[in-house]
Amino acid sequence: MQFFAKVTDISKQRSACVIIAVDHKDQLTESGSALDKASNGSLGKLLKRGDLGKAAGSTQLVSLLDGGAERVLLVRAGKAPVSQAEFRKLATVSAKAAAAFKDASSYLTELSVRDADIDWQAQQLTLAAGLASYKFTRFHSDTKPNPLAKFTVHAGDKKQQKAIQKGVDLGSAQAIGSNIARELGNLPGNLCTPTYLANEAKELAKKHPKLTTTVLDNKKMESLGMGAFMSVAKGSDEPAAMIAMQYKGGKTNDKPIVLVGKGITFDTGGISLKPGLQMDEMKFDMCGAASVFGVMNALVEMQAPVNVVGVVAAAENMPSGRASKPGDIVTSMSGKTIEILNTDAEGRLVLCDALTWVAKFKPSVVIDIATLTGACVIALGHHATGLYANQDQLANDLIAAGETTGDRAWRMPLWDEYQPMLNSNFADLQNIGGREAGSVTAACFLARFAEEYNWAHLDIAGSAWTSGAAKGATGRPVPLLLQYILNNK
Ligand code: BES
Ligand code: MN
Ligand code: ZN
Repeated sequence: MQFFAKVTDISKQRSACVIIAVDHKDQLTESGSALDKASNGSLGKLLKRGDLGKAAGSTQLVSLLDGGAERVLLVRAGKAPVSQAEFRKLATVSAKAAAAFKDASSYLTELSVRDADIDWQAQQLTLAAGLASYKFTRFHSDTKPNPLAKFTVHAGDKKQQKAIQKGVDLGSAQAIGSNIARELGNLPGNLCTPTYLANEAKELAKKHPKLTTTVLDNKKMESLGMGAFMSVAKGSDEPAAMIAMQYKGGKTNDKPIVLVGKGITFDTGGISLKPGLQMDEMKFDMCGAASVFGVMNALVEMQAPVNVVGVVAAAENMPSGRASKPGDIVTSMSGKTIEILNTDAEGRLVLCDALTWVAKFKPSVVIDIATLTGACVIALGHHATGLYANQDQLANDLIAAGETTGDRAWRMPLWDEYQPMLNSNFADLQNIGGREAGSVTAACFLARFAEEYNWAHLDIAGSAWTSGAAKGATGRPVPLLLQYILNNK
């Protein structure tokens, strides 16, 4: 899909669909009025009929037989200036409606938005359009991809066009990255194995000279002393992989941002087997890893001037004769011993060794991304990603990046008072902290392996995918991560 920022005259637009806003009093914006004039007042007459709903976000699609565009999508906006949240909603509903056509042009940049720049507006419109164009079609025999192939954001003049282009570039990178993450997330566990992910990383390196990929296999990880990671990996017939994609787009001496994604390609729970209901959704247990792939792909595509290492801890969590059992004790790469009380708390086991290993990249910050706990979904539901950090600046920057994109995170406590919940009678620590504060104790576990550097942990168990009729990966938190990385360059 292609994205453009253009100064356009709506009455001459040959678009399959133009998107225009209508305020609470049926007033059109500048281009809307121009199109109304060019079509002999037909838009005004249509609005008088009252078919367009009064609630902000209502849409009505009308066809034009003569005039430039083939169709007009009318979108109801509230009283100007609209809030950022409302603008985002308008961007999303209009993008979903326009995704049915081969190209669309949005004039929603003519709306005034409280406390927002025009480049922000363009970014939201582009991100929404890119996300709306995505459809998982790989295994459907007769479903075609969405036709939307070209999306144009309208600019009032040349000066505005520059700012809008900036927003379009960022928003399209975020959408492309998110859609790559969604595609990987949606792939089934029998196809998307740790080996599959490792191959994706190698392919990416082949295409881009500034990115190099290294893959550690089971033997190598064993020899590095990754006993926690291997305690999960050994239960599966699928070989595990520790994948590192090193992108050097910045200055040689700039310390990299390191992303670490949980890549459990299927989580059965292991010997602590999960119940059957909705277990299929545990193919999404590699959405943290998928987000790392989404970010790395976007960075190389836009040739971002940053140094970022994308690490993926990939394994399958299976019950078998070689699987770990509750009560087993293993030694992590850090030397800390861990009593595995529940084999379903496997994410922290693969991540703790990854966190120890990545110190070798001398990171400026480390951010792990993981579908870590069901408890996080209980705490925050599906709107917010759970954020934990051992440094306030990093936490605040990530929260701000999330606010800007609408891919929001909410900070959770990482207080020392929670740490004793992980004390074990038999080892340095145990891998579960009991029923209470399950998301917090999981983060506290990881914190013990991230003391050497500035670190944040994003628990995306509630935000990475949707269940029910619209079941599918969301691509979150790719927009947040890209916003953070590009803000800090
Ligand atoms: N991948 C799951 C977390 C999860 C569960 C995410 C459901 C989204 C929906 C993770 O590996 C897990 O099983 N965590 C356990 C931890 C528990 C055993 C302490 C959980 O949340 O139940
Ligand atoms: Mn689990
Ligand atoms: Zn898991």
